[in-house]
Amino acid sequence: MRAVQIVDLTGPESALAEVDIPEPEPSHMLTPGEGVVVEVHAAGVSFPEVLQTRGLYQVKPDLPFVPGSEVAGIVRSAPHGSRLSEGDRVAACCLLGAFADVAVAPDFLTFPLSDELDFAQGAGLILNYHTAYFSLVNRGRLREGETVLVHGAAGGVGTAALQVAKGLGARTIAVVSSDEKERVAREAGADEVVRSDGAWKDEAKELSGGGVDVVIDPVGGDRFTDSLRSLREGGRVVVVGFTGGSIPEVKVNRLLLNNTEVVGAGWGAFVLGKPGINEEIGAAVNQLVDAGFVRPIVGARFPFEQAADALELLDGRGATGKVVLEVRS
Ligand SMILES: NC(=O)c1ccc[n+]([C@@H]2O[C@H](COP(=O)([O-])OP(=O)(O)OC[C@H]3O[C@@H](n4cnc5c(N)ncnc54)[C@H](OP(=O)(O)O)[C@@H]3O)[C@@H](O)[C@H]2O)c1
Repeated sequence: MRAVQIVDLTGPESALAEVDIPEPEPSHMLTPGEGVVVEVHAAGVSFPEVLQTRGLYQVKPDLPFVPGSEVAGIVRSAPHGSRLSEGDRVAACCLLGAFADVAVAPDFLTFPLSDELDFAQGAGLILNYHTAYFSLVNRGRLREGETVLVHGAAGGVGTAALQVAKGLGARTIAVVSSDEKERVAREAGADEVVRSDGAWKDEAKELSGGGVDVVIDPVGGDRFTDSLRSLREGGRVVVVGFTGGSIPEVKVNRLLLNNTEVVGAGWGAFVLGKPGINEEIGAAVNQLVDAGFVRPIVGARFPFEQAADALELLDGRGATGKVVLEVRS
């Protein structure tokens, strides 16, 4: 089969090679001896793959390896007792191996893909929307009627958080860095949009009538203290990622003074090996698809041969929504 491998650690421009390798066995590292074999139609491209081309991500397989953590496609075979069968359209989180004609995912991380979504949208469903739901609901304890501020709101996690929050009955404020990203955030359902280089904290406090209830932060860096300041009493900042490059530190007296919280949301660490939680989140996300709230925004589609360009787009901060490799067009 065709596959794209990371062959060295020289960065997205030069670390990838297109190769011809044998198809994988129906076995996944999380479920040895078992796995759902998926004919890949589209593969999601994410920040970890950019980091992996430099050896900077926490998951560091031996070289060469096929990167890519999620796919959408058609089931070729499923383990005995699976709720899936051959021919089903699915979205699947395979952790590695997505940039290929065929991938294998654990049964508990493979979900039926609604007919409302095409394969490219399906390839943007699990990592971003499951993370967004987990961050907002399981960790952020979001309630209907609350206000959510979303950083990096035109990105993959950001657009997902906006859509999921709207679906859960929240009001949303998006923080973005450009006109184009403002357009994308509005398309994703942002009620209000503020600029990361402006007085966003004061604007957010004003727009929310005194402070927001939840901040979803996939960016980190310098803006963290202002995220804490933008909360109302009882508010929660949910730490999701650090695309801004630096890991912020908290002066905990701020939490005490304003009765606020900082909460970590590590989707992968929490759900890997918890089939029940995955099923709940998958069902909740699929309900939001059926209700019309979740529609993954595919910002860029690249043919299989241009995987390096896809990674460079993310690396250069040029991506909006989800970046997708079209494996079968
Ligand atoms: N915790 C979890 O379980 C979990 C799960 C999935 C992903 N993540 C993490 O969440 C983060 C966001 O992922 P994503 O897929 O949404 O990424 P993305 O699509 O690239 O979006 C990230 C956003 O971050 C902002 N940003 C600010 N400074 C940046 C910089 N120096 N370089 C690049 N972007 C910058 C950009 O928005 P502006 O230009 O508008 O500022 C960009 O749109 C990543 O760190 C990822 O590893 C965490």
